[in-house]
Amino acid sequence: MSHENWQSIWARRGTSDASGLSLEELLRLDGFDSGAACIDPQDWRSYAQDLANRLNIREGQSVFEIGCGAGAFLAALSETRSIVVGGIDYAEGLIGNARQALPQGSFQVGDAEALEPAPPAHHVIANSVFQYFPLGKAGNILQRMLSKAAMTVAVLDIPNRETQAECEAVRRAALPEAEYERKYAGLEHTYFDRDWFACQVNPDEWRCETIDGFIPNYTQNQFRFAALYRRVTPLITPTERI
Ligand SMILES: C[S@@+](CC[C@H](N)C(=O)[O-])C[C@H]1O[C@@H](n2cnc3c(N)ncnc32)[C@H](O)[C@@H]1O
Repeated sequence: MSHENWQSIWARRGTSDASGLSLEELLRLDGFDSGAACIDPQDWRSYAQDLANRLNIREGQSVFEIGCGAGAFLAALSETRSIVVGGIDYAEGLIGNARQALPQGSFQVGDAEALEPAPPAHHVIANSVFQYFPLGKAGNILQRMLSKAAMTVAVLDIPNRETQAECEAVRRAALPEAEYERKYAGLEHTYFDRDWFACQVNPDEWRCETIDGFIPNYTQNQFRFAALYRRVTPLITPTERI
């Protein structure tokens, strides 16, 4: 029930004003504009650059994003090198904005659980999305991401179960109690153990590492982590274009 409510919240997002789709505006549309989740465009660019280096994303390769929203992350990644982008998100308005912001990209409206393994992408990522998936659904979506990825998978900005109590106390303290209840009643996040991510793959096929959140100047880093997967044997050569 609570996760269906998140869907209706995201469904209300999107803008009909396509003239000003700056990175700042894309960040606002994707929910990184207020309170603890506020992120400066320059910090966002550094974050995208850092991820591109960690995954060794090369010119001409493809990056597909689960829960891509209006495309803020793909837009910042595209500034770092020339890549082929695509994404899926269940919020129709946000996908409309992603299409406007990244006209060469290939975007679809749908639940992440409907992700198809074909066509493959070199890199498959999800940023700040896994908190909306109940655990069973998260496992299913992760398997779909792994099937689609020829080289790497990155799940980013994941709520850490170890710091759940502290994280929720901070979230609560940011608002008067009545307003918190009104705004967030029934809207839970899913928190994950780091070990859960390593357990989802066959170590003969995938190397998995989990690392601390690394968005510069982001207050949520202390409660978040990332899981990075690399295929032991990439399905294609790094220069091949998908
Ligand atoms: C915080 S925003 C992040 C957007 C984008 N990943 C970024 O980093 O800019 C979360 C996004 O996840 C999407 N989302 C949440 N649950 C989803 C699901 N089950 N299937 C598809 N999209 C989902 C929302 O619509 C929203 O666009």
